[in-house]
Amino acid sequence: MITMELFSLSLLFTVSLSTIIFFLFRTTTASRRKTRLPPGSIGLPLIGETFQLISAYKTENPEPFIDARVSKYGSVFTTHVFGERTVFSADGETNRFILQNEGRLFESSYPGSIANLVGKHSLLLMRGSLHRRMHSLTMSFANSTIIKDHFLVDIDRLVRLNLDSWTGRILLMEEAKKITFELTLKQLLSIDPCEWSENLRKEYMLVIEGFFCIPLPFFSLTYRRAIQARKRVTEALNLVVGERRRERERGVKKNDMLAALFDSDGGDVVFHDEEIVDFLVSLLVAGYDTTSTTMTLAVKFLTDTPSALAQLQEEHDKIRANRGTSVALEWDDYKSMPFTQCVVNETLRLSNIISGVFRRAITDVKIKGYTIPKGSKVFTSLRAVHLGQENFKDARVFDPWRWQNISDPINFMPFGGGPRKCPGHELARVALSVFLHHLITRFSWKPAEEDKLVFFPTTRTQKRYPIIVECRNVGG
Ligand code: HEM
Repeated sequence: MITMELFSLSLLFTVSLSTIIFFLFRTTTASRRKTRLPPGSIGLPLIGETFQLISAYKTENPEPFIDARVSKYGSVFTTHVFGERTVFSADGETNRFILQNEGRLFESSYPGSIANLVGKHSLLLMRGSLHRRMHSLTMSFANSTIIKDHFLVDIDRLVRLNLDSWTGRILLMEEAKKITFELTLKQLLSIDPCEWSENLRKEYMLVIEGFFCIPLPFFSLTYRRAIQARKRVTEALNLVVGERRRERERGVKKNDMLAALFDSDGGDVVFHDEEIVDFLVSLLVAGYDTTSTTMTLAVKFLTDTPSALAQLQEEHDKIRANRGTSVALEWDDYKSMPFTQCVVNETLRLSNIISGVFRRAITDVKIKGYTIPKGSKVFTSLRAVHLGQENFKDARVFDPWRWQNISDPINFMPFGGGPRKCPGHELARVALSVFLHHLITRFSWKPAEEDKLVFFPTTRTQKRYPIIVECRNVGG
């Protein structure tokens, strides 16, 4: 009897599920026919092609998921990942169109779990006129003149300070993260490395882990820990902001992002401390993994390409020799590093940690003869364009020399584009160049063990790139 009931129950369940699946498929196919979505497959109901995407990125190949679909459907295709139908673009022109139409046809789109970590007043989540205003404030804080007149000296000093303690075996990825965090904290809040900043960094690393886990508080300890750490980071930064407000009332002036935020008070918008803290956290998040991963991967690519390393060394030894007894780099030195910029470009082209960005269509949008319906999720893959053979010859090979013959190609967008183009792009370039300069003029190194590049859940080397460093005694 019980068995019979169970059988009927499971039959009922199977029939219901099949009906749901049938209707889901029917709805999707019907809406596709009506709207002419880009071709593709939406895989299994609900799950879509999520598992194919995850397993593809666990390989050493940078773009297996996109490559397979581009060859089948073309460079703009439809898939269904992470619970939602998504249009993927591996086409440079389409990507530029999408990014440039931010706020008009598309808007940035982050899941709620990310918003909990970066804070609701983060630049990443702002929209409309407030976004425009805060984006341009961030740009003006990180432009070439400010970097030249104020930040370069600190970037140079803090990089050297970190390198002073390097000896024997180091985990380059960890060291690069420490450097990047210290640089950002100095630029945002004028805080030099100390016990407080190191504690903040530890909390902050827990927050970052939250970006790369299943964001369900009940299921994921990592996500829960990240949310708690975010609260502690907020509390610590709140104290700093409060203290700085009091200092400002006493007439103390500082030259950092917080001062720029205070100065922009008094216009039509007055920022509360909670908003300022969210804003600062989002800048810390945006610059941290991006710059430190690029530093690490540049060193890995150079190590694997000795001729490029030799040419870079020559460039920096020359700068070093011209500086005489002075160790600190100046703006003119930064401006005389053409091959370094080739190395930075090539690293960003080959393995940008920001493989692409998500957007949502805010109206029906016609692209390349297809219609992307209002509300659809869109992924503009920057990396797929960078790795397309039609855009770059021998696209999957590390070849910094290619940049000696091309300047600013339209299909190269490591920092995104349009109104949300990375406001930290120049700052990142300077930090990378100064780091490479001091590394190369002070040390020789070799990998401590075999390590490989992986792309899931994020672009990194599997073992955080352990190397053995040895002083070169060229100076510094
Ligand atoms: C190699 C280093 C870096 C790379 C590859 C990178 C890449 C990017 C990309 C692709 C975007 C566009 C996101 C989108 O369109 O939704 C972006 C946005 C952003 N980046 Fe960077 N970034 C780097 C370093 C930095 C640094 C050092 C800072 C800090 C000053 C920073 C701050 C930001 C912010 C605040 C945004 C959000 C802009 C907005 O939504 O308006 N980035 N970055």
